[in-house]
Amino acid sequence: MQDKDTWSGRFAEPVAELVKRYTASVGFDHKLAMFDIQGSLAHAQMLASCGIIATHDLNDIKRGLAQIENEIIAGEFVWSLDLEDVHLNIEKRLTTLVGDAGKRLHTGRSRNDQVATDIRLYLRHAIDELLVLIKSLQNALLNLAAQHTNTIMPGFTHLQVAQPISFAHHLMAYFEMLKRDTERLHDCRRRVNRLPLGAAALAGTSYPIKREMVAEILGFDGVCENSLDAVSDRDFAIEFTACAALVMTHLSRFSEELILWMNPRFGFIDIADRFCTGSSIMPQKKNPDVPELVRGKTGRVNGHLVALLTLMKGQPLAYNKDNQEDKEPLFDTVETLTQTLRIYADMIAGIQVKPEAMRSAALQGYATATDLADYLVKKGVPFRDAHETVAVAVRFAEQRGCDLSAVSLSELQQFSTHIAEDVYQVLSLEGSLASRNHIGGTAPNQVEAAIVRARVSLAKP
Ligand code: ARG
Repeated sequence: MQDKDTWSGRFAEPVAELVKRYTASVGFDHKLAMFDIQGSLAHAQMLASCGIIATHDLNDIKRGLAQIENEIIAGEFVWSLDLEDVHLNIEKRLTTLVGDAGKRLHTGRSRNDQVATDIRLYLRHAIDELLVLIKSLQNALLNLAAQHTNTIMPGFTHLQVAQPISFAHHLMAYFEMLKRDTERLHDCRRRVNRLPLGAAALAGTSYPIKREMVAEILGFDGVCENSLDAVSDRDFAIEFTACAALVMTHLSRFSEELILWMNPRFGFIDIADRFCTGSSIMPQKKNPDVPELVRGKTGRVNGHLVALLTLMKGQPLAYNKDNQEDKEPLFDTVETLTQTLRIYADMIAGIQVKPEAMRSAALQGYATATDLADYLVKKGVPFRDAHETVAVAVRFAEQRGCDLSAVSLSELQQFSTHIAEDVYQVLSLEGSLASRNHIGGTAPNQVEAAIVRARVSLAKP
């Protein structure tokens, strides 16, 4: 016999098979099971403490939920589509196991505040795990950067050689992005960490409940202060997805660079074989599949953000079934980001750097032209005139097919009488780096100091 629908007393005919499948969420929301149990235990404990259910009911509920938890862990729990979602599946099983106590669990509660609580518990847990993963990626970046404060590469603007920088300085730019991503996730966590339970269906409940007690048991910072808002808004999930989309976007940019750097035309790095694949037809190929997929999966997470925003925008207060559609984008965002971060830290640790190729690229693009202009300015030439003088000198060197540092002093002096022997310190890549000696600059001692500061910030809890 088919399970009797929970609300069947009101209905003259059973829900159509197709509709049942269309409306059911158990296929994906079973992921919330452990958080659902956690929330139910806290709710039951509060009900007993307020005298709304008896202590023996609480004990039965605890015993039943413990068994259900074991069944789920063992993979023995039977999820039924007829029971629609994770909440009804667990409640039904509880009632089968412990009888009336199971039926009392839902007193003063609705699935509306129940599901909002479950998602918040799920997301809080996910954020905590993601923060750890971001930290390990940041550590991998620092370890690589520490070895390369004197490894010179061209810095680019418009993907054209601009000025020499160190490879460490370039890597530290990503450290900073991840630092802000971490701050954003911490901030988002504060708004996730509020308790909806007690809002019941939408208006609150007539039982003498203690919401603060439930909040405390579940480790929430406080309760959601308006019952309609508590059951209906998913802004915290949207906010989280926006944070996740930004992390992915940062990693997508990094991936794009890794792909370019690994191309033999650059030849700046090699990515360990375990992160690449070959071609089924071209035997010579080694493709950077992982960074390419990170770039691709960023589109997917960005899409989830738009899906969630769109899901919310037309909903009147309070709860609407639309909200059931929040889970798949949210779960997929968490999983995609988790896997991406996990693989990325390992991939960064396995990067092989080719300093010679970086150096020769930096020597090819007149990367120290700005240094020559700055040199002239320091000798009293107005910047715009210095800029023009150097442009002419660069054209000269270009026709000659050599770097500025290879042009003789007498030839350089034809462009400006202010040029003297000391110009070669400025034209060298090392001199150019060393001169950018202020916080945020690429001078090796500054980047070393940035790495020390970064290590200190990571050591803080
Ligand atoms: N499965 C539902 C969801 O994910 C649970 C809440 C259902 N509430 C309701 N009134 N139908 O949103």
